[in-house]
Amino acid sequence: MAETMKGMHRSHRCTEVSSANIGETVTVMGWVQKRRNLGSLIFIDLRDRSGILQIVFDEPKVGSEGFAKAGTLRSEFVVAVTGTVEKRTAAVNENLKTGDIEVIASDIRILSESETPPFPIEENSQTKEDLRLRYRYLDLRRPDIQRNLMMKSKVAMLLRNFMEKEGFLEVETPILTKSTPEGARDYLVPSRVHPGTFYALPQSPQLFKQLLMCAGYDRYFQIARCFRDEDLRADRQPEFTQADMELSFVDVDDVIDVNERLLQYVFKEAIGIDVQLPIPRMSWQEAMDRFGSDKPDTRFGMELVNVSDVVKECGFGVFTGALEQGGSVRGINAKGQGAMPRKKIDKLVEFAKGYGAKGLAYLAVNEDGTYKSSFAKFMAEEELKALVEKMQGEPGDLLLFAADKNKVVWDVLGALRLELAKQLELLDKNQYNFLWITEFPLLEWSEEENRFMAMHHPFTMPMEEDWDKIDSDPGAVRAKAYDIVLNGTELGGGSVRIHQNDIQEKMLEVLGFTKERAHEQFGFLLDAFAYGVPPHAGLAYGLDRMVMLMMKCDSIRDVIAFPKVKDASCLMTDAPNVVDDKQLEELALSVQAAEQEEKDV
Ligand code: AMO
Ligand code: AMP
Repeated sequence: MAETMKGMHRSHRCTEVSSANIGETVTVMGWVQKRRNLGSLIFIDLRDRSGILQIVFDEPKVGSEGFAKAGTLRSEFVVAVTGTVEKRTAAVNENLKTGDIEVIASDIRILSESETPPFPIEENSQTKEDLRLRYRYLDLRRPDIQRNLMMKSKVAMLLRNFMEKEGFLEVETPILTKSTPEGARDYLVPSRVHPGTFYALPQSPQLFKQLLMCAGYDRYFQIARCFRDEDLRADRQPEFTQADMELSFVDVDDVIDVNERLLQYVFKEAIGIDVQLPIPRMSWQEAMDRFGSDKPDTRFGMELVNVSDVVKECGFGVFTGALEQGGSVRGINAKGQGAMPRKKIDKLVEFAKGYGAKGLAYLAVNEDGTYKSSFAKFMAEEELKALVEKMQGEPGDLLLFAADKNKVVWDVLGALRLELAKQLELLDKNQYNFLWITEFPLLEWSEEENRFMAMHHPFTMPMEEDWDKIDSDPGAVRAKAYDIVLNGTELGGGSVRIHQNDIQEKMLEVLGFTKERAHEQFGFLLDAFAYGVPPHAGLAYGLDRMVMLMMKCDSIRDVIAFPKVKDASCLMTDAPNVVDDKQLEELALSVQAAEQEEKDV
């Protein structure tokens, strides 16, 4: 029968014991990683979240009952051991923090037994993620996941420290609330008291933090849970955590200044990385032109080159056709990849098509100066020469071109550039390239909805220089918005907000809101602005993403204790799930899909 803790106290975590404790008696507790029987001696590796410590059971020291108990131990049993710290008799294990010592047990209690776990509890698990997530409580015992979560806790603490020093107040905002438009679908919660009505879970605390500025709180921050019903990717979860802030009486440079110091402090304290200040800034336009992305990875070159000018009168219809349609032709130079086999190039073409390309034109410059190309035959020698020159193509290079609307060309070449960098192993995981992207377009035309949408959100201030274009040329208006990008991932984003009702109303009008609908959705914010509102601005980091990048994880799931999978379900709890008819009745809801299924049966 499992024993209890009565009268026993843990003195150290496993790796808190060191050679400084030699000769002392310690009590450690944790899980059995493995047991080895060596005749008269039994060894176990004891594991807790600090790491591993070797325990030795020697019958004369631990007694026959203790020795017998040790003999029954299996993986994942929970035990408490008291013993004396000694220098290791066998060779030192360089891989362990405690590799030069061991604890000679004088007492052992088995606190809990364990069935054989469905997969080994070990670092760099080869077990399929689905199985690990089904047994997440076991997966969470693995040292790499534990390190990630410990880092997340540390980063949250560092953020709080910094914000407190800088005079920010942590204020909580509601989870059951009204829709906050951040561009995703809302998660809705039905109200029992008001049948037929719904709360929305916040996509961010955006409206509330602006109201806190109206209320004079001056500098707000919160480690806030956000909910967005959107397609999941490696760096996206339906619920995630923001480190969210808002400041009064500030402009772009003030927000950037405090955040640069924040990043410098947090990255230094958390992972020892020196962030060089100031962090470079790049306008959205420049980022798109050079990298085909608003979150460029600047750890490598292979920048986009606009060759529209050079090919505008060439003989290749694909190029000239795209230009006639108002598009562009751009290329990237994969240096030294001219000998890439045709099959591999075809794969790149398929990859490009996945991003909306109609094709991908290529030209390899052979070592003898001749070309191997999918389109050279359509172009005159002089035209080809000018094109290669523009691309700074040298013998041995592979040039890849996309011709289409700007957006497609950027998407395709931006993605291709990253794909090639991965294939060619150009990405240095130890390099941390921060970059501010500024001067985003205020609006984005949606073909689907046939109207302008806010690129950031509807409360973002247009740049003063562009105010006069809001009516005449809304698509050309730039916003006082900024994103902080780290190695090609958007780490955070924010903006200066509109604090004047006339501009806000104009913005909502451009976005296609009627006065009534605007009032229905965020009347409380517009009303608040009628009572004295300071100019304000803010920013929010994806905390999960920050830790993911710090820990060099490939997936955001590795830094969230209980994450959801691609279809937004939780494999461990089976959420979401059906509810009792009684609950539905109370909420005055009926479920169509379920009724349909019943009929089908
Ligand atoms: P934004 O929508 O850019 O801005 O979000 C800020 C940051 O939150 C992170 N993030 C996510 N992380 C994981 N999963 C998701 N589904 C997800 N969506 C966003 C990103 C992103 O940069 N209210 C504004 C901020 C402001 O203007 O102050 C906002 O939410 O790292
Ligand atoms: P085609 O004449 O359609 O066979 O195309 C000739 C070459 O141009 C092929 O290598 C195609 O992949 C490429 N191509 C076709 N459409 C485009 C495009 N929009 N942008 C770049 N290359 C293209």
